[in-house]
Amino acid sequence: VTLPELLPSLRSSLPPHLDPNIWPLTAREGLCGEVLVGGVELSKIAKEYGTPTYVLDETDIRQRCRDYRAAFPEAEVAYASKALLCRAVAGWVQEEGLSLDVCSAGEIAVAAAAGFPAWRMVLHGNAKTPQDLRAALDYHVGRIVIDSVGEIAQLAANVHRRQRVLLRLTPGVDAETHTALTTATEEQKFGLSLTSGAAADAARRVLGQPKLNLVGVHCHLGSQIARFGGYEQAVQRLVAFMAWLRDECHTTLEELNIGGGHAVPYVSGDNGFALNAFAGRIRRVLHVECDRYHLPLPRITIEPGRAIVARAGVTLYRVIAIKRTAGGQRLVAIDGGMSDNLRPCLYGASYTARLVGRPLTADMEPTTVVGRHCEAGDVVARNVPLPIDAHPGDVLAVPCSGAYHHSLASNYNLVGRPPIIAVRDGSARTLIRCETTEDLLARDIGL
Ligand SMILES: Cc1ncc(COP(=O)(O)O)c(C=O)c1O
Repeated sequence: VTLPELLPSLRSSLPPHLDPNIWPLTAREGLCGEVLVGGVELSKIAKEYGTPTYVLDETDIRQRCRDYRAAFPEAEVAYASKALLCRAVAGWVQEEGLSLDVCSAGEIAVAAAAGFPAWRMVLHGNAKTPQDLRAALDYHVGRIVIDSVGEIAQLAANVHRRQRVLLRLTPGVDAETHTALTTATEEQKFGLSLTSGAAADAARRVLGQPKLNLVGVHCHLGSQIARFGGYEQAVQRLVAFMAWLRDECHTTLEELNIGGGHAVPYVSGDNGFALNAFAGRIRRVLHVECDRYHLPLPRITIEPGRAIVARAGVTLYRVIAIKRTAGGQRLVAIDGGMSDNLRPCLYGASYTARLVGRPLTADMEPTTVVGRHCEAGDVVARNVPLPIDAHPGDVLAVPCSGAYHHSLASNYNLVGRPPIIAVRDGSARTLIRCETTEDLLARDIGL
């Protein structure tokens, strides 16, 4: 424990440094308060592309993919594209040997436009629409994860050829994360309960459909999970279910998909996810449980989303206004907020921020960074050290904003969504262009 961790007030008065746990792998301090990512000065990107802008470090994303492949060489690693998807990202994860978890006709369309191989795609969703299923079947998506009983007959009636499917199970595991991020306890919307018998009933129905090929089971415990106990419990319960299937239904499954949810640190001192230790623990529990039931080892699939892309992202804003509340709190208002980063509003997520492209020689003051939107809860970061001479026009950078930012962005207050600018080896290029007022008006077709 460091002194600044013991004394938060001390932490917020210190000049910033680039914590390698939360900034992109290629982030470097430049001269005069500049920060470079992928060899490109952030203030230059702000000037050239405007603000807000999402900056994405390609090297960081590729390296996270490689880390997963190295930690789990025997497993299938499927990137959960809901965290962030555009054609370039689909291309990078494909080149790095990952599969793709998709959740909608839109995600399938983008992956298909990038030429992502259909057989390496897995479709999820607790309420897949007929359009989602149609898109998946037309593209011949490799596996479809069934989440409700009604989906079974619907799918069987529409498949062109025998379709590989998994069952999403609810193992009844509390993964010790925020309740809004918990997805494997009994009283929530995802999956088929093991304890109620819904899972067993669904398995029998799938096996009764000759056009459906039940190849595995799936669970996803939630997100921002740093501890392994929940995953171990889930493996135990899912393997027990696989043994039941073998004994009662004479079916041996080949795949055990344990979802994603691996934690990422957003502010200094947050827990990360010890990937290699995790791989070891999963391997061990899988061996023990399969031995117990004399089951052959299934192939493990994992589905990290956030852990692949979160740290690659930095969002750039401009300071618009500065105020002090009657209670003395300094507020820095920026030109973005909950429309480009919903996470603080959704579940109180924490962020840090710093100014870039200007000297940081003045004393620091703990500051609340607020957004531009018409909600009092539109707060981007609390208690971050910003220089006392911060002023309108300064560029503010928020790290660790690659996951569930662009994908959760909205047009609230009719602002256009920011562009995504990829950086690598000293150059920047646009992946997604900025949404303009003309784009917004183009959808408004009735008078
Ligand atoms: C089925 C499934 N897999 C994987 C993920 C990815 O989670 P994370 O981004 O926390 O790794 C999610 C997230 O909602 C999910 O629903």
